[in-house]
Parts: sequence; C-alpha cells; structure tokens
Amino acid sequence: DDFAGEGVWRYADALPFETGVTTQEGATPLYEVPRLEADVGVEALRIKHEGMNPTGSFKDRGMTVGVRVAKELGVDRLACASTGNTSAALAAYGSRGGMETLVLLPAGKVAAGKIAQASLHGARILEVDGNFDACLDIVQELAARGEAYLLNSLNPFRLEGQKTIGLEILEGFRDDYGAFPDRIVLPVGNAGNTSALYKAFRELVQAGELDADDVPKLTGVQAAGAAPMVEAIENGADEVRRWDDVETRATAIRIGNPVNAPKALPGIRETGGTAIAVSDEAITDAQRDLAEEGIGVEPASAASVAGLRKLRAEGIVDDAERVACLTTGHLLKDPDAAAAAGSDPEPVPADTEGVIEHLQG
Ligand code: F0G
Repeated sequence: DDFAGEGVWRYADALPFETGVTTQEGATPLYEVPRLEADVGVEALRIKHEGMNPTGSFKDRGMTVGVRVAKELGVDRLACASTGNTSAALAAYGSRGGMETLVLLPAGKVAAGKIAQASLHGARILEVDGNFDACLDIVQELAARGEAYLLNSLNPFRLEGQKTIGLEILEGFRDDYGAFPDRIVLPVGNAGNTSALYKAFRELVQAGELDADDVPKLTGVQAAGAAPMVEAIENGADEVRRWDDVETRATAIRIGNPVNAPKALPGIRETGGTAIAVSDEAITDAQRDLAEEGIGVEPASAASVAGLRKLRAEGIVDDAERVACLTTGHLLKDPDAAAAAGSDPEPVPADTEGVIEHLQG
C-alpha cells in the first residue's frame, strides 16, 4: 500500500508526486477545546495537533515528499541539522527509503524522545558543540560540497508537503463552521510552516479556489529568548537580524537565524497577521491548558496557545475571531519538560490500607 490518495497524499494535486516514501502521515485531528475556547474568549478555537503524525511532529509531512525526491535523485546520504524533530523524521523516513541518514544536533539541547527516535531509526548522530544555527551552517556546507542531500526546511520539497497542514485546516473549518478560520497561530523556528502555509493559500487564491479576503491571518509565535522574527515584524524590517545567543525551555524553537524568513515575512504581513514573543512560563502554562483538554504537546507547540492568549489580552485578536492554533509536536517528545510541568508522583506503601490512609491524609 503506497498510501496514494490518503493523508498528505490526498492533496497530490498540489504536490510533485502521487505518493512518496510514506509511513501514513497527515490527516491529523483538529480538536475542539470548549473550555479553553471560552477561557481565551474567541468565537471558535480549534487545535490542529501535528503531534499525531507517525513520528510525532509535522516534519513527517515534509519528509514523505523530500525523501521521495532524494530517491528520485538517487542520492545515498541524507542529512539535516535539527533541534530534534527533523532528525527523528529524517531518520525514520530515510530508513524506510533505504538511505543512510546523518543528523547534526546541538549538544545538550535536544529533548530525550527525539534523540531516542533518531538513534533507534539508525541515524548517524553528530553532537555539535554549538547551537542549531551553527549545525545548519555546517550541513549547508556539507550539501554544497556534495557530501549529503539536505533535508532541512531550506529544501523546497519539504515545504510542499507541509502545505497540507494549511489545506487540512481550511477544510476542517469549512466542514464544521461553513467558513474558513480568520487566523492561524503557529510556533515559529525557521519559519518553514509559515512559508509553506502562505504558499498553499496563495496557490488556492491563484487557482480561484479561495477568496483573497478569506486567507487566514498568519500569526507567528516565538519564545522570548529566541525571537528574531518578532523583532523584524515589530521593527518593520525587511531582513531578520541573526541572534547569536538564544535560550528557551522550548528547545524545538531555540533558533536565532530563521532561514525561511524571506518567504515568511511577506506571508505574515500580506495576510494581515503578526508575530509575538511569549515567556517560557507562559509556554508551560499553555502546555498545562492543553493537557487539561486531554491534548499532550511539547513546549514549542504550546507557544501557539500562549501567543493567542497574549494577543487576546492585548486586544489584537478580538472575540469574534475563529482561530486555529497549530501544535507541532507530541508531549512524549520531551518527557522531562512534561514531568517538570506536571504533578509529582507520591510514594505510598505496597498495601491497600496504606494507600487509603495516604489518600485521606
Ligand atoms: N515546533 C516544533 C515542535 C518544531 O520541532 C519546530 C522546528 C518548530 C515548531 C518550528 O517550525 O521551523 O517551521 O518555524 N523544528 C526543527 C527541527 C528546527 O530541527 O526539528 P518552523
């Protein structure tokens, strides 16, 4: 079964192939969150949970296309720099495609679940004494020298696959509300998704399938300690200034040089969106908010909800809006962050009386 016509590949008309190297990616849930919706105070709020993809993040949508392209090209070694999720997806899809994979990770800054995935799927893991941006510099040079085929979001075929996130959100809202969302709020690292969604919507407008007025406002959220895109939007700048020192608990978006900024900045501006920075504390609070609705996400994902709350508080988002928040990765990606944000286990004796006593205690 090559999964043609399903998941990401249901949108083959918008993609370069009929199917790809696949582990059945896409068709992720668009969850209702009635309590959170009421608390945030918007007309409608839905959570598009990309953590429900095969390797637990949206990267699978890009890899099913990108690894297929690599196969067509006949390359034998695939490579990426990664804050973790890209490496997990590349390792899985590269293995499925029968290719060697090389991943460069910032030492000490990648969540446990992601390293475990890259490791078990057989990637060669290089731990770099530097941050993600340094890893990406090196991988780009390796690719330029013919050492490997690059599968970061600089690879345009990755973004082709990630367009389907936007297409699924539009269809989901149309089916449930008879209207498209006013706004899509998403976490931003390299701004690959921001670029991909903008491209998807532009193509729909050009094809006459979507009114230009109905394009959702693309709204990016970064962690305050790694917010070069927000800085550029606030300053009305045409270029993003690279931040050399970045820090955030949301390690997936611990990025100082968003390489897709030239494509993403126009996307945010021309859709009438914005970009906002949130604290690590607000991210953890939002992670708990989602967990209360039964949705488990990693910290970077919760940035979307934290950003929406802040935009509501500032009056930039009004209460009549229909909003989709993108949650990009699964809770189990970063078990340490989840355990730190949640409640602690309580030690009890191994007998029923002792347990009852403890509960009454
Ligand atoms: N959320 C998660 C969970 C991510 O892993 C990433 C990027 C982003 C958001 C940012 O997405 O780059 O499209 O703006 N992770 C990359 C990686 C950098 O290596 O896994 P973007």
